[in-house]
Amino acid sequence: MHGLKSFAAFAALLADGATAQQMLRFSCSRLTIERLDPLVSPGEIQSPHTHQVGGGNSFQASMAPGAFDPVDNSTCTSCTFSEDFSNYWTANLYFRARNGTLKRVPQMVNMGLKADGGITVYYIPPYDGKSKVTAFKPGFRMLVGDPTLRSGETQQRQLCHRCFTTVNQVPFGGAPCAGPMDTADLPPDFCQGGIRTTITFPTCWDGVNVDSPDHRSHVAYPTNGTFESLASCPASHPIRLPQLMYEVMWDTRPFNDPDIWPEDGSQPFVYSMGDGTGYGQHGDYLFGWQGDSLQRALDARCSNDRCSELKSQTSDAAMKCTLKQTVPEDIDGWMTKLPGDWDITYN
Ligand SMILES: *[C@@H]1O[C@H](CO)[C@@H](O)[C@H](O)[C@H]1NC(C)=O
Ligand SMILES: *[C@@H]1O[C@H](CO)[C@@H](O)[C@H](O)[C@H]1NC(C)=O
Ligand SMILES: *[C@@H]1O[C@H](CO)[C@@H](O)[C@H](O)[C@H]1NC(C)=O
Repeated sequence: MHGLKSFAAFAALLADGATAQQMLRFSCSRLTIERLDPLVSPGEIQSPHTHQVGGGNSFQASMAPGAFDPVDNSTCTSCTFSEDFSNYWTANLYFRARNGTLKRVPQMVNMGLKADGGITVYYIPPYDGKSKVTAFKPGFRMLVGDPTLRSGETQQRQLCHRCFTTVNQVPFGGAPCAGPMDTADLPPDFCQGGIRTTITFPTCWDGVNVDSPDHRSHVAYPTNGTFESLASCPASHPIRLPQLMYEVMWDTRPFNDPDIWPEDGSQPFVYSMGDGTGYGQHGDYLFGWQGDSLQRALDARCSNDRCSELKSQTSDAAMKCTLKQTVPEDIDGWMTKLPGDWDITYN
């Protein structure tokens, strides 16, 4: 099958010449799209900008560590692994037409998977095929990126965009966010095959705190980059975590029409917090795997979306796990303002 062959090529490239890398790679279909953020705006109904969310259906405005357990409180998950009630969320992307009105960019399915929107989730153990990592603990959560960022002064290797220049998924392969195929900002030109966002999380933990006031400082990147998970962790954050990575596949193809792009040809896509640069994209994670299931899957070096250590469900069953918006708000029509009334900044 073409998809699997290419995926193997991708895995090999990701491992940078080492033997093909084993990693969990699975879909968490769209659970909901709404303005909620239990990490940054706990309890707030509604939070400032829209997110698309995958995972356990206990997702809600308040999910305090310790007090709230997504495993106990969920009755289904939109992820393929049915013991994963974690929540995964990112900003949404919108298209702004020449006439100024906006429409949410739909999503396309990632190679070899089946889902209705949502996020492709990876948990990647170290490349040597044997070193252990410590799975996240109950209550653990973290955040990558800064929704207020609008410039590239801080080049963020952990967050990037790939423009599929011919068809969906091409160019393919290569370590994400590390080469000329990927840009920190939104691609400037038509992407005939759509756009992919990649978000990679820190892999070093302080070993104590499941959260921190900024949702970042309890974790750190290795001293030697993001994808070298064998690189050493800083002394302050000695515990090595699996590399958590998201891919979000934006189907910008319906909007590739020069007549509705801005007259000057500048790129018309904008994230839900009014960010037309792309630097403000961000990803949030709230751990919710049942028992020690994630640790067992990592230790067993499971690959892709089937694992002898884990229970899974069909993609169709996962896609049936959805959540009604807490506050109903249109997410599909043409709109005059972004939900939350954001002004838009472009490059
Ligand atoms: C979540 O589950 C716990 C029991 O595990 C329960 O005490 C709590 O009320 C539940 N919270 C919600 C919001 O359902
Ligand atoms: C703006 O342009 C889009 C794309 O051509 C079109 O679908 C939409 O109806 C237009 N909206 C208004 C208010 O003219
Ligand atoms: C980073 O890792 C690479 C490959 O493991 C190694 O060759 C290089 O010396 C490391 N750099 C630093 C600054 O530790």
